Amino acid sequence: MKITVIGAGYVGLVQAVGMARLGHDVTCVEIQDERRERLAKGEVPFFEPGLKEMLNKSLEKNQLRFTDRVPSGVLDLIFIAVQTPQSETGAADLSYLQSACEMIGRDVQGDSIVVLKSTIPPGVRARIHEWLANDKLEVASNPEFLREGKAVEDFFAPSRIVFGVESKQAEEKLREAYTGVEAPVFVMSVESAQLAKYASNTMLAMRLSLMNEIANIADVVGADIRDVSAVVGSDPRIGSSFLRAGAGFGGSCFPKDVLALEAVGKEGGFDSRLIAPIIEVNKKQAEIFVQKIQDVLGELSRKTIAVWGLAFNAETDDVRESPAIRVIRLLLEQGVSIKAYDPQAIESAREVLGAEIEYASSKIDCLQGADALAVLTEWEEFIDAPWDEVKEALNSPMVFDGKNVLNTDRITEAGMTHYGIGLCNEDSQLLPSFS
Ligand code: UGA
Repeated sequence: MKITVIGAGYVGLVQAVGMARLGHDVTCVEIQDERRERLAKGEVPFFEPGLKEMLNKSLEKNQLRFTDRVPSGVLDLIFIAVQTPQSETGAADLSYLQSACEMIGRDVQGDSIVVLKSTIPPGVRARIHEWLANDKLEVASNPEFLREGKAVEDFFAPSRIVFGVESKQAEEKLREAYTGVEAPVFVMSVESAQLAKYASNTMLAMRLSLMNEIANIADVVGADIRDVSAVVGSDPRIGSSFLRAGAGFGGSCFPKDVLALEAVGKEGGFDSRLIAPIIEVNKKQAEIFVQKIQDVLGELSRKTIAVWGLAFNAETDDVRESPAIRVIRLLLEQGVSIKAYDPQAIESAREVLGAEIEYASSKIDCLQGADALAVLTEWEEFIDAPWDEVKEALNSPMVFDGKNVLNTDRITEAGMTHYGIGLCNEDSQLLPSFS
């Protein structure tokens, strides 16, 4: 099939490369010159496991090319994967979508299907048709469910594929495009597909905020949230993923999509009571974590804290909305000096934090002269850290785990104390962690 993908950001690039690897002839339209030129040479401008190798294979086989305009000729599907950032009101900013639609409507000559891959709020289909202003074009929705750090895996082995369509013909074309990917397929209206995407992210974010609040309660009563979530998650009606509490969740998707969903309801006259607090609770979680550090270490000014992890998630260099950045900012406000290490995200963190913190070249270097360690990303190399060496390097044997991922026994055996959110160590029960 002849496939065009508009936008070579995170979602667009995975879609373009994925479609090329499925055997389609793919053109990816990227208007930023530098980005497009780098991609055409096989360079991926961000870290995502497996993506660079797949990009290079697709380029070698001439299944994928990058241009700055929509190609002429017959196009089966045109995926729009431009960004839909959060506007000041919380609603999604659709200006990039509008420009993409205007370009497509102007340049595409034959019949084609415009597939919304970006996360776009339901209720704007009529506007999209107005922007396209081309009655040869149909609109469909095919929301993405890619986790950063696992995007390639999620593309080829997704838990489900969703098609929101205006016609049977669009469904057939989309099915053909995904031939080779084994997953249950859900076919529905464009609006239902769009709402399903927002609902999925909001549900996951709500679970995390709820578990974070339950972890705070675990701290109050001296319970261990890991035992609590094991019980809760063993109920098949609930399921065990996305129950790990900590200093909050991050990433560019959850906060933006949760608030955009709330805005969609509001614009239609429905005021949700449950959705907005998901984000408020999440922000508060970083404050609770810093309060916990202060409760243990006392006055924080002139202390040095080593931070392992800057990215919002393991296996990515993305620091957008990262809980690590939130926690670091709060610690800096208290006069703490920060030395940080991350296997991939140092450069992206430097763009945000500049010279406000010191950057270390390895996890052990990062500890020299530090009063305690805070772990803020769930990288494997932190989970498997050599705790004897960590103890040796730190001024005091304390680990604050903002992701609740470390093994308490191993840390304790090395003679250190493991603090997390709701981890029930003797001290944490006594801490006045709530402000
Ligand atoms: C999320 C969704 O998981 C994807 O399905 C969706 O396609 C994507 O948003 C999107 O809309 O583009 P992403 O934000 O990339 O993916 O990464 P996640 O793996 O979902 O992690 C989000 C945050 O939750 C991370 O900060 C992670 O550390 C945190 N998390 C995750 C927890 O704090 N506890 C958990 O148990 C799981």
